[in-house]
Amino acid sequence: MPRDLPPPSGHASTMQLRVRQLGALCVLALALTQAAFRFQDDEKTPLGKKMAAINTAFKAVGRQIDDPTKNASTLKQLDVIETNAKEAMALDPEKKGQVPAAQQAKFVADYKAGMKVFLDTVTKLRTAVKAGNNAEASKIIDTMKDQQRDGHKEFRIRKAGAPPGL
Ligand code: HEM
Repeated sequence: MPRDLPPPSGHASTMQLRVRQLGALCVLALALTQAAFRFQDDEKTPLGKKMAAINTAFKAVGRQIDDPTKNASTLKQLDVIETNAKEAMALDPEKKGQVPAAQQAKFVADYKAGMKVFLDTVTKLRTAVKAGNNAEASKIIDTMKDQQRDGHKEFRIRKAGAPPGL
């Protein structure tokens, strides 16, 4: 049949079929993505969930720290980080279970000390942002990234294939 002739009535054109296939693919992709997200969240430890909340807020702060017009919003994100870091401090890292019993108390105390240093740094960051000192704030964020890397190296179970600190 020549290409430019309309399809016989009652039959879907090739184009209509393609659109239907594409629609079905989109629905499938969406369902798979949602399932993957649910799975990821179920897999997280209670401490992992606090960390995930810190992560989202910290990324937002990092994106806007050079923009003083966003400082009010940055301060709100810092509240989110602080609340979750305080809650995280009250939880034990999953890695505790891999540490010999005799060293567990020290392991948890060291973790808490690390979180305390992090919380003190959040306070410093808040002071800098409140003072409108965004250049200083940006440097403090770099310090927090170091704390994150070191904290993960020491206290987090290293996932297969992940580079140290991640
Ligand atoms: C800017 C600072 C930080 C960010 C953005 C951050 C982010 C994260 C993220 C995204 C995870 C994985 C959560 C998951 O999906 O399971 C995680 C896990 C973890 N983080 Fe952090 N983190 C930060 C600082 C720290 C610090 C300072 C420490 C320790 C002193 C720490 C200790 C841990 C531990 C132990 C886990 C594993 C969770 C568990 O053991 O249950 N993090 N963090």
